[in-house]
Amino acid sequence: MDVFGIEEIILAVILFIAIHYWRLNRNTPMTIWPIMGMLPSFIHNVSNFYDYINSLLQQNGGTIIFEGPWLTNMKMVFTSDCMNVQHITSTKFENYGKGKDFEEIFEVLGDGIFRSDFHMWKYNRTLLHSIFKQENFQVFLHKTIEKKIFSSLLVFLDHACKKGLQVDLQDIFQRLTFDNICSIVLGFDPICLSIDLPQIACEKAFTQAENTLFYRHVTPKFLWKLQKWLQIGEEKKFSKNVKIVDKMVYSKIKSKKDQMQGEQQFDLLSILLKQSIGDGKNPIDDENKFLRDTSINLLAAGRDTISSTLTWFFWLVSTHPFVEAKILEEIKENLPSRKDNWKYLGMEGLNKLIYLHATLCEVLRLYPPVPIEHKSSLKCDVLPSGHKIKSNTMIVYSLYSMGRVEKIWGKDCLEFKPERWISKKGGIIQVPSYKFIAFNAGPRTCLGKDISFFEMKMIISSILLNYQIQVVEDHPIIPSISVVLDMRYGLKINVKKRSI
Ligand code: HEM
Repeated sequence: MDVFGIEEIILAVILFIAIHYWRLNRNTPMTIWPIMGMLPSFIHNVSNFYDYINSLLQQNGGTIIFEGPWLTNMKMVFTSDCMNVQHITSTKFENYGKGKDFEEIFEVLGDGIFRSDFHMWKYNRTLLHSIFKQENFQVFLHKTIEKKIFSSLLVFLDHACKKGLQVDLQDIFQRLTFDNICSIVLGFDPICLSIDLPQIACEKAFTQAENTLFYRHVTPKFLWKLQKWLQIGEEKKFSKNVKIVDKMVYSKIKSKKDQMQGEQQFDLLSILLKQSIGDGKNPIDDENKFLRDTSINLLAAGRDTISSTLTWFFWLVSTHPFVEAKILEEIKENLPSRKDNWKYLGMEGLNKLIYLHATLCEVLRLYPPVPIEHKSSLKCDVLPSGHKIKSNTMIVYSLYSMGRVEKIWGKDCLEFKPERWISKKGGIIQVPSYKFIAFNAGPRTCLGKDISFFEMKMIISSILLNYQIQVVEDHPIIPSISVVLDMRYGLKINVKKRSI
């Protein structure tokens, strides 16, 4: 009679291998399992993903190679080395595109600027750049943001003060920035921000769709594709949400086209329609689809990035009263007269707010709204760190980690210190974009950087001059796991009227 059956022997071998690997790797955070590669460690740390990647990068000289399960072809290079980032984004720009994986994950962005490479990207970039520079567009943008602050934000905060409401400031900023970006891009305000905080279907659908895009990053491709094909789970929700957003965007395109003969409008859709983009001299086959893609890309670009920065800003500033006092002092100094309302700060006044600008840079360094970016190599290459790259390799650079690199920012890199951005002469210290990476670097640098600083300074000065924001004690502050670095549990605050 056999002492052990075949099942017991297989089980014993598996247990032996598992214990062997556990012992081998127990002191390293990056266990490499047989068959599953590093995926189990990643999944185990997914709730803390950006800090986990940051600690791996710090322990491994700034660059690591991730190997996924056998046969899944999940191999990626993670880096926070600024020389590698300069190489990928600028020096060898032509060799690093968005790649097939990005294309598949972000299919919903169509041929818009974020998802396109080469000729199509160049066309999108030149077109948008020319619109963003137009004076009419800039005036429209400033007026839209100003009007929204008066008609919704201050009205809501007044209401919250009177009723003594506890407020989720992140939710308020997401509503505000969604209203703003819809008005700027589509010429339509969905009014997500009003005192009764309504549930607006397209805003909810937009947020949920973004969460699915992150899920696709941490799920083996075959699995999410299978879910998509079967229309189950996360992918089923995703299709439903995309339909809601598309319906809203296509209906706005249609009504804009119907109104074309009426009064002149300066929202992005109206300007695009006037530029006759479908005239055969450009790469556009389907005008409506192009307008939809451009709109969706800009809604994604300009909504959560700003709401995320504002949320981290108010948390950091309210936990650093010295910084808040300095910002307030600076705003008051730049008011034409003490009795004047904040709105008279105007463009010129906003440009004088150096300390506020420095504080925003410091927030963006520590909490970049886009925490990771990925590129794919066309041909094989060698990175400045010495790592060999085969063609079609995904390279992920962690913007979150780059803000925490001691070699770039010094020993106090984890401290929140707006002063590090101010020169002896009192101006802003310009840090090259491959080091201060929040707006990306090289030819694909963010096109909305100036718009963002303007919008954020307006919103912040209006709030700080009129209200005192107090973060609710013991409220957990943890980054969310999504493509945008929000706060997982929002930012709960109490708000009081400020007398100046
Ligand atoms: C705090 C605010 C913002 C931050 C931190 C930010 C950051 C970024 C980053 C990291 C990228 C590179 C994305 C990639 O290549 O995958 C990017 C690209 C871009 N951003 Fe922003 N963004 C902000 C606000 C805005 C706003 C308000 C707009 C427009 C209304 C905008 C328009 C764009 C566009 C069009 C691109 C694509 C550039 C290209 O690929 O050539 N961004 N932004």
